[in-house]
Amino acid sequence: MITIDELIQNKQNKLPHTSSELEFIVNGFVAGEIPDYQMSSWLATVFLNDMSFKEISDYTSVMISSGKKMDWPDLPGFVVDKHSTGGVGDKVSLILGPILASCGLFVPMISGRALGHTGGTLDKLETIPGYKTDLSLDKFREIIKNIGVSLIGQTDDICPADRKIYALRDVTSTVASLPLICGSIMSKKIAEGIQGLVLDVKTGNGAFMKTYDNAKKLADLLTRIGQDHGLKVSSLITDMNQPLGNACGLWCEVKESIDALQGNGPDDLMEVVYHLCEKALSLFEPTNNNRQKVEEVIANGSAMEKFLELVCAHGGDVTQMLSGNLNKPKSKESIVAQKDGYISEMDTYKLGLSIIALGGGRQKQDDILDNSAGFILNKKVGESVAIGEPIVDVFCSDSNKLDQGLITIKRAIKISDTKPKQLQLIY
Ligand code: URA
Repeated sequence: MITIDELIQNKQNKLPHTSSELEFIVNGFVAGEIPDYQMSSWLATVFLNDMSFKEISDYTSVMISSGKKMDWPDLPGFVVDKHSTGGVGDKVSLILGPILASCGLFVPMISGRALGHTGGTLDKLETIPGYKTDLSLDKFREIIKNIGVSLIGQTDDICPADRKIYALRDVTSTVASLPLICGSIMSKKIAEGIQGLVLDVKTGNGAFMKTYDNAKKLADLLTRIGQDHGLKVSSLITDMNQPLGNACGLWCEVKESIDALQGNGPDDLMEVVYHLCEKALSLFEPTNNNRQKVEEVIANGSAMEKFLELVCAHGGDVTQMLSGNLNKPKSKESIVAQKDGYISEMDTYKLGLSIIALGGGRQKQDDILDNSAGFILNKKVGESVAIGEPIVDVFCSDSNKLDQGLITIKRAIKISDTKPKQLQLIY
């Protein structure tokens, strides 16, 4: 019988694993038969020596089989989801889900919490009083059937292997491995039982993929793995050299999403939302009026109405959400320009870390989040500023944390004398 030692050695010698060997590794680890130290060694070897396309596809299948795979036989329409590789200010899911459902698609979204310096959709949704993200799969199914969209958190039923392996990757510096990222992301998406998937792969100083070439590699790999499992997949590579939109944090991002659904979103955010929605609609029906459909459901209020239905279906209090009195920060300060010039650069990674410093992200797994924490960018890269002009409004409910956040944000934003080259939003 093969042992985990032999399999680690095979990978060290760059020999490919068979599907049953991958099953042995993943299931053995989940069952507790392969201890953390051996699994860590295997993960590190994969990190260094990579996997073939066939191995990644088999690994994805094994991860899916560790839990339930959903299906939607009774839905009268196309079932689609979106995945973003993560960034700062990325609130697209909150806007795209209701838009696509208003256009007649079904959107079962299983979302994540904040990861490192990047924000998490679940943490943002939980700033709405009463909104429950930990619903059973039966309740999830019921909401999708009734209103077309639901956003919940990871459940133990879907890809339990990923949860256990991810936790080990997180503490063994083996997260940034293309085959492991791909297996982790795609297993969870495929297990949702969707027919189509749109990928938003971020690149830039606030993304996990710093260069366009690496983002493209990941986008192509995710696309091929999805297609190999019978999904229609379309991908977009978008910029993360500055936050998306103006609001970054928790409740302030929900507020910006509501503005966006009411037709008042910032241009860069809306451009990414429009592109991704068009791609999702085109997976189902490739016509050239998909953008018009998206604009229509925003203009006629049906996308916003869908968002309200979504919040109600999850137990959220819509009246409080719209009251204008929710999650008010106790401390606020603006960062002003120290000279005339142009915003030339934002260190988006640092800006993401500043949200953690403000209390809007976790330093330890059990940290309680401050829903009021975040900042609003009044200026983006390329815009001119005058000395004394407020560039960023920073807020939270702990004055010590506010000071920490201010220090990080000040360091992250540069002003130059000359106008910088315009950043490309969509590659
Ligand atoms: N997101 C995931 O779900 N998994 C990874 O491995 C990386 C990002």
